[in-house]
Amino acid sequence: MTGFIYRKIIKPILFKYPADDVHNFFLKTGNYFGSIKFVKNLFGKIFIYENSILNQKVLGINFKNPVGLAAGFDYDADLIDILPVIGFGFHTIGTVTNLPYAGNPKPMLGRLPKSKSLLVNKGFKSEGIKLVLKKIGKRREGSIPLGISIGSTNKPYKKIEDMADDVFISFGDAIKSDYFDYFELNISCPNLINIENLKEKFDDPIGFSILLNKLSYLNFNKPLFIKMHAEKSIIETFALLEVAKDYKWVSGVIMSNLVKNRDNIFLDKEEVGLAGKGNFSGKPTEQLSNNLITEVYKKYKDRYIIIGCGGIFEARDVYEKIKRGATLVQMITGMVYEGPSIVGKINKDLANLLKKDGYKNMTEAIGFYNK
Ligand SMILES: Cc1cc2nc3c(=O)[nH]c(=O)nc-3n(C[C@H](O)[C@H](O)[C@H](O)COP(=O)(O)O)c2cc1C
Repeated sequence: MTGFIYRKIIKPILFKYPADDVHNFFLKTGNYFGSIKFVKNLFGKIFIYENSILNQKVLGINFKNPVGLAAGFDYDADLIDILPVIGFGFHTIGTVTNLPYAGNPKPMLGRLPKSKSLLVNKGFKSEGIKLVLKKIGKRREGSIPLGISIGSTNKPYKKIEDMADDVFISFGDAIKSDYFDYFELNISCPNLINIENLKEKFDDPIGFSILLNKLSYLNFNKPLFIKMHAEKSIIETFALLEVAKDYKWVSGVIMSNLVKNRDNIFLDKEEVGLAGKGNFSGKPTEQLSNNLITEVYKKYKDRYIIIGCGGIFEARDVYEKIKRGATLVQMITGMVYEGPSIVGKINKDLANLLKKDGYKNMTEAIGFYNK
């Protein structure tokens, strides 16, 4: 019912306005609603779906369900009080950078409904780590697991070591705050200006090891996941995972980020022809994400926990990622198109799919295709 109201009444109104404005509206309203106990109780009753078949303990963290909000929606931690009552199993804020960056010139967001995709041109918009941590202020009791995605400030660097120092400072602050249950390192944002003058980059094996060596000086007391590219080949992806393999505090990988290639067969030709600057989320990312999950699970299932991300719109999409080897999943675009009730619906339908296949717990289904 709530999904129907969102799709038929709320979405047509929202989609008349520029996507940037609607996103800001959601951040402001969500932040306000998160401060009102009555609204939170009501939302919890409407949106949350719970079923013990979806419970998992992963890397010491309890997840009530496997569906998380991916980095990029709540980039400055405005929604940490409201998201737990929307039904997510976990929630990543960010990508946060050390120094503030106002974002690329607008529009930073666009819609491609026929492609079930969003156009993203934020370029690491962030209020900066210090302000974001101040805003969080305290650890929320009884909340869902909270993670922070960190990337390098979007400004030009002369040396990759300086860029690694910038990421090091943000992680140092985040670890010290003790607000987070897990960390994400974003090395895969396409189109940042900060790498234009650099020979090595964080997403090539040499640059990546420079970064990980620097981060080794920190005491990662919580799991860290690396957010991977969607469009790197399997060989390129494996090369990065070989580098990360020896750093014990790297616990897992997230597959994957946005896509850049405008010839992607899942992008509607007419829509993409009209699209401005930026990269694409949603259905055009799904197949690439799924292929990476399969290959990485086959080779590294005993080394990395996999979070599947890209193109999730319904429970079957989640189930596919789990059967390929994902332990958890993340989403944004499906929620923007289908409304917040999609999270509970996905969890309910996923529980039914698992039961139908005879599973007692979702952990048993992980990597089913490759067992
Ligand atoms: C509006 C928007 C902003 C995003 N910003 C980030 C970001 O800051 N950091 C990041 O790691 N991924 C970012 N992403 C990528 C998502 O986390 C995710 O990898 C991608 O959108 C695929 O998932 P989806 O199809 O469910 O949206 C962003 C995606 C969207 C739609």
